Amino acid sequence: MFKTRVTEMFGIKYPIICGGMLWVTQAELAAAVSNAGGLGVITSANLFNAEGLRKEILKLRELTDKPFAVNLSLNPTLRKTPNDEFVQVIVEEHVKIAEVSGARSPAEVIPALHAGEVKVMAKATTIRHALNGERSGADAMVILGIENGGNVGMEDVSTMVIVPKAVDVLKIPVIAAGGIADARGFVAALALGAEAVLMGTRFVATRESPAHPKYKDWILRTEEYQTTLAQRSIKNTHRTLINLAVQKTLELEARGASIGELAGWISGFSYRKGVLDGELNAGMAYCGQIAGIIHDIPTVKEVIDRMVDGAEEIQERLTRVGLFK
Ligand SMILES: Cc1cc2nc3c(=O)[nH]c(=O)nc-3n(C[C@H](O)[C@H](O)[C@H](O)COP(=O)(O)O)c2cc1C
Repeated sequence: MFKTRVTEMFGIKYPIICGGMLWVTQAELAAAVSNAGGLGVITSANLFNAEGLRKEILKLRELTDKPFAVNLSLNPTLRKTPNDEFVQVIVEEHVKIAEVSGARSPAEVIPALHAGEVKVMAKATTIRHALNGERSGADAMVILGIENGGNVGMEDVSTMVIVPKAVDVLKIPVIAAGGIADARGFVAALALGAEAVLMGTRFVATRESPAHPKYKDWILRTEEYQTTLAQRSIKNTHRTLINLAVQKTLELEARGASIGELAGWISGFSYRKGVLDGELNAGMAYCGQIAGIIHDIPTVKEVIDRMVDGAEEIQERLTRVGLFK
């Protein structure tokens, strides 16, 4: 039923991808997404070193025989990740797909990944970066709108605008991300010319997600206007829920604080305390605006089935209003 360049290239049933999320996209969640016909992702930065990543890949292979991807983060983070070693493990373990995100150019890792026959989807928040990704050899570009949970870049363009623009200027397939959680967003993204969707926040609030129940509940209680943007002063803008850590960060940023002064509030480990341990004021609490229409904690399969079944209902509705014959 669904056939796009992305489903063909990645060998997946549905053009639905779970974006890499630090601490959240572990083997169990990735397997649930891949088993439900989408593409699951594990985040290499969760695993600290090459052997950790290798173990997680082997664990994931016990849980699914379907395709999956490994996320590589090229962020100028406080913590250095051994990306060269991660690339080596991805190639050695014959992983077929990598999701490359972060502020640095994907050109840093694409040649080594391609040499190992790994397909690369790179993430971009601007058309400039998307074109650079394509020039660097990316096989698909994930285009993120400002609604996106987590890193949103610096230009604040909505998914509705940046996705069709990227479709116009890129030759490689576009994957839409930011503000998608159900069949309506899915069909809309395909209508804009995207060949797959990538979601984060929706998958955090699922049964298979390792996020703490308090974090999932927080997403359910959040309205679309209750997230904010932080870390702009250090050119690393992130969308997050509003808590003590974010308020402190914004106060410090207004005073021109250095990255070192912000570190205690914005580090990946502070965010981990919230997302995995339920200490909700400890750090950043990444979440997209789409939380406003997330009201339950279904299984991953239910999320994906609803998107697919709902797409048919939308087609019927659009036919009734006269859009299709
Ligand atoms: C809790 C959380 C953590 C995230 N962590 C990462 C990350 O480590 N690396 C990354 O590339 N994107 C990360 N993202 C972004 C997602 O991969 C995806 O692009 C985004 O969630 C899509 O927007 P949506 O939340 O509106 O669905 C994160 C998003 C969330 C909600």
